[in-house]
Amino acid sequence: MVAVAFGQKSDLKNVKVLPFKEKRELVSYMKTITKELGVKCSFCHIPNDYTSDKKANKIVAREMIKMTQNANSVMANLNFKEVSCWTCHRGNKIPERSPFKMS
Ligand code: HEC
Ligand code: HEC
Repeated sequence: MVAVAFGQKSDLKNVKVLPFKEKRELVSYMKTITKELGVKCSFCHIPNDYTSDKKANKIVAREMIKMTQNANSVMANLNFKEVSCWTCHRGNKIPERSPFKMS
C-alpha cells in the first residue's frame, strides 16, 4: 500500500534479477532472449502466468541472466563489448559443443 501511495510500485511481480521497472522494457528483453535461444515464451513460462516459477527452464534462465550480468561487469572493466545469451547459445536451447575436447 505504501509503495502504491508513492506511485512507484512496478506492475512486475516476480522479477528478482532483471533491473527493469516497466513491463514494456522487460517484455522487450524477453523477446530478445527468446530469439537468442530459438524458443517460444512457453519454453520458460506457463501461458497466462508469467509470474510463476514452475518451469525448470525459467529457474535456469534466471541463473543464466545472473551469470551474464556478472560476466558483463567483468567485460565492462576491460572495455569489452557485452556478453549476451547469443554469445553462447547462437539460437539454440543448448549451445552446440565444441568439436574439440579442451581437456
Ligand atoms: C529462456 C527463458 C525465458 C523465455 C524464453 C521468456 N522468459 Fe519471461 N522471464 C524469464 C525469467 C527468468 C523471468 C524472471 C526474471 C527475474 O527474476 O528477474 C521472466 C519474467 C517475465 C515476466 C515478468 C512476470 C512477473 O513476475 O511480473 C514477464 C511478463 C515475461 N517474463 C514475459 C515473457 C514473454 C512475453 C516471453 C516471450 C516473448 C518470455 N517472457 C520469454 C525467462 C524467460
Ligand atoms: C557462457 C555461455 C552461456 C551464456 C552467456 C548463456 N548460457 Fe545458457 N547455457 C549454457 C550452456 C553451456 C548450457 C547447457 C548446459 C548443458 O546442458 O550442457 C545452457 C543452458 C541453458 C538453459 C537450459 C536449456 C535446457 O534445455 O536445459 C537455459 C534455459 C539457458 N541456458 C538460458 C540462458 C539465457 C536466458 C541466457 C542469457 C541471459 C543464457 N542462457 C546465457 C551456456 C550459456
